[in-house]
Formats: sequence, structure tokens, C-alpha cells
Amino acid sequence: MIIVVLSFKGGVAKTITAIHVAESLSKHRGRKVVLGDGDAIRTALNWYKRGLAANHKVGFTVFDGDEQPPDGFTDLVIDTPGNPNEDELTQLANAADFLIIPTSCSPAAIEATIQTLTQFNELTPDRYRVLLSLVPPRPSRLSVRQKYIET
Ligand SMILES: Nc1ncnc2c1ncn2[C@@H]1O[C@H](COP(=O)(O)OP(=O)(O)OP(=O)(O)O)[C@@H](O)[C@H]1O
Ligand SMILES: [Mg+2]
Repeated sequence: MIIVVLSFKGGVAKTITAIHVAESLSKHRGRKVVLGDGDAIRTALNWYKRGLAANHKVGFTVFDGDEQPPDGFTDLVIDTPGNPNEDELTQLANAADFLIIPTSCSPAAIEATIQTLTQFNELTPDRYRVLLSLVPPRPSRLSVRQKYIET
């Protein structure tokens, strides 16, 4: 299965989501997972390399998204750049079996999520989920307030 984590907005927790999804599929589902780092900054790949150097084990492999994935995987998770252009987003969405669209609860992030979903208006609901990320801990009520603004 190919899972792509994307959004029009940068900094909404795409990379950390891709890492957690990859680890979860590997650890709890016994899948052979590879994570393709499609962001030129290579946040996930550099994190992975630092981990290897420190002998910190994770259940999946991270590879450079410009290169071919290693052989033998059952699931490919792709982390994508912040602020991608429309063509990049469409290409990635078409390649995916499933999309995860993280959004924080700030107005700008919600706006970007609406834009992302508008761009993919042919996506059927079984092919994506919006993930509310970076929810502030209590006692902040930011995410609750945002819900009221939206409705
Ligand atoms: N659950 C969380 N709680 C607190 N902070 C978080 C959480 N998830 C991510 N962050 C922080 O939010 C910031 C953005 O996360 P991340 O790098 O995953 O976003 P991104 O969407 O990949 O960003 P970019 O568009 O720059 O690639 C990071 O500093 C990360 O440590
Ligand atoms: Mg990132």
C-alpha cells in the first residue's frame, strides 16, 4: 500500500506523522515498511541517519525520495515537502492508495486543508483522512474554539 502524507501548508506535522505511521504499521501490523523522504530538506532521512549512528532502532527504513525504494516492502509511506505546487500535489495524490492530510487547528492551516481537499475533489472519502495535529494541551481551548468558528 502507498500512503502519502501531504498538505498545501508547511509545518503541520507531515514528517512526524509519516514517521509514526511507518513505525505503527511495522510494529503493530508486522508490515515491511519503507518511508520515502520526498522533502528536499530530508528531515526524515536525516533523522533516520542520526538514529542509525546512535544505534537507535526503528522498525522501518527511510530512503531518499529521489531514489528507488529498497526491495521487498509491503507498504510505502511518503513524506512530502511543505508548500508544494499543485502539480506536485496532484501527482502524489494520484500515486497514493491512501492520503493523510494533517492540519493544525490554526485558521491558516484549516484554510490550507480546505484548499487541499478542493483540489482533490474527486477523491472518494475512503481514500483519505484529515488528521488534526498539534492540538494544544489543556487548558488551551484553541481547537474547540476553531470548531465553533468553522460551524
Ligand atoms: N504532536 C506534536 N506535539 C507537539 N509538537 C509537535 C507534534 N507533532 C509535531 N510537532 C512539532 O511541530 C513541528 C512541525 O512538525 P513536522 O516537521 O512534522 O511538520 P511538517 O509538516 O513536516 O513541516 P514541513 O512542512 O516544514 O516539512 C516540529 O517542530 C515538530 O517537532
Ligand atoms: Mg516535513
